[in-house]
Amino acid sequence: MATRTLGIILNGATGRICSTQHLANALAPIRSEGGLLVGEDRVMPRLLLAGRDAAKLAQVAAAHGVEAWTTDLDSALGDPEFPVFFDAAETHLRAVTLRRAIAAGKHIYTEKPVAPTVAEGLDLLRAAVARGLKHGAVEDKLYLPGFRKLKRLAEEGFFGRVVGFRMEFGWWVFDGVEAPSQRPPWNYRRAGGGGIVLDMHPHWRYVIVGILGPIRRVVAANWTAQPERGDERGGLYAVDVEDSTTTLVELAGGAHGTIYSSWATRVRGDDLVTFQVDGTKGSAMAGLRRCWIQAAIDTPRIVGFNLGGDAATLDYRMDYAAQWREVTDEPAYVNPYRPGWEGFIRHVVAGEPFASDLAAGIRDVQLAEACLASGAEGRWVELAPIGG
Ligand SMILES: NC(=O)c1ccc[n+]([C@@H]2O[C@H](COP(=O)([O-])OP(=O)(O)OC[C@H]3O[C@@H](n4cnc5c(N)ncnc54)[C@H](O)[C@@H]3O)[C@@H](O)[C@H]2O)c1
Repeated sequence: MATRTLGIILNGATGRICSTQHLANALAPIRSEGGLLVGEDRVMPRLLLAGRDAAKLAQVAAAHGVEAWTTDLDSALGDPEFPVFFDAAETHLRAVTLRRAIAAGKHIYTEKPVAPTVAEGLDLLRAAVARGLKHGAVEDKLYLPGFRKLKRLAEEGFFGRVVGFRMEFGWWVFDGVEAPSQRPPWNYRRAGGGGIVLDMHPHWRYVIVGILGPIRRVVAANWTAQPERGDERGGLYAVDVEDSTTTLVELAGGAHGTIYSSWATRVRGDDLVTFQVDGTKGSAMAGLRRCWIQAAIDTPRIVGFNLGGDAATLDYRMDYAAQWREVTDEPAYVNPYRPGWEGFIRHVVAGEPFASDLAAGIRDVQLAEACLASGAEGRWVELAPIGG
């Protein structure tokens, strides 16, 4: 068995998502395990951290035993020892940075959204294909334990004919005035690539399609619950993007479902995100980690509604949650960002197929773009096929 190295530039390396999920939870473990087994050989990621703040880069590098970091992206892109470029810097820089990386002949792997628009995403894809470069997009949420269980149920035919679904996501993001905000201001500015639709709908696209199949069309309402927010320096700024959205989705299979996402809601249900699928043979509801089912045969006949008199006002003390059974056969836990890295590394070094390619990332953006257009124009928007 031989060990070969694969040079990977991590851009935006000190950011929240790159330093935690991609570096600490995915690449650092692969490195500490002696590399990734690909065929007969091991591939050891050799990392170069890129960013703007030298002190922070040095700190993150030291924390994970990474030898190299730089604030000079051009020199990193010019270094042939690092053929792979990964971008997890701020969203509004994505397209321009990826274009530079492609021009430098790097294989690209990128956080979502892969581009601000489908048109710009397709430009990037054409440029990467023209240069014969490999490309990939982060699609981590389908690897969450709860959604993996839901996907397995769908594959096993548990639902019968799917008749509907409901996806709900969100929590209260403080406004930076009453209490410090948990999200930086760029999330609330169009010019910063902000807005909850561009942030979260790319995820919901591959989760819904991965479990339930293709989406035919959508209609959406998007609104701004908190129009004024405080920044880190104590100033106020106007929010020019939506922080809440509801989407009605029509699947190619004919069923409909809804997506509700908001940074201005308070958590009450089972988890921060919940995805319920209803089918003729049964229903399932998954959160981030757990999943519950109610098969047709276990479905109770509902009482306490429309019984005449004032029955609807009586408190029947029904424990509806107890009528569901938890899916307990846990698949082995993997960090949800790790399968993406493993798949992309195998794709680069061994040419193995990688489903989460740039075209998939563009389809993720397409759902967001369709929902923004639908909200602005008040109409259904079809999702035309993109890529393979
Ligand atoms: N897959 C997911 O679930 C997920 C979750 C969160 C964020 N993200 C994506 O990751 C990206 C980063 O999000 P975050 O939450 O980590 O944000 P963040 O603000 O914590 O990190 C952004 C990083 O980009 C750096 N940056 C800004 N300008 C730069 C420049 N010119 N050159 C190099 N670096 C620069 C910042 O210094 C910061 O370190 C966003 O595109 C976001 O959509 C994905």
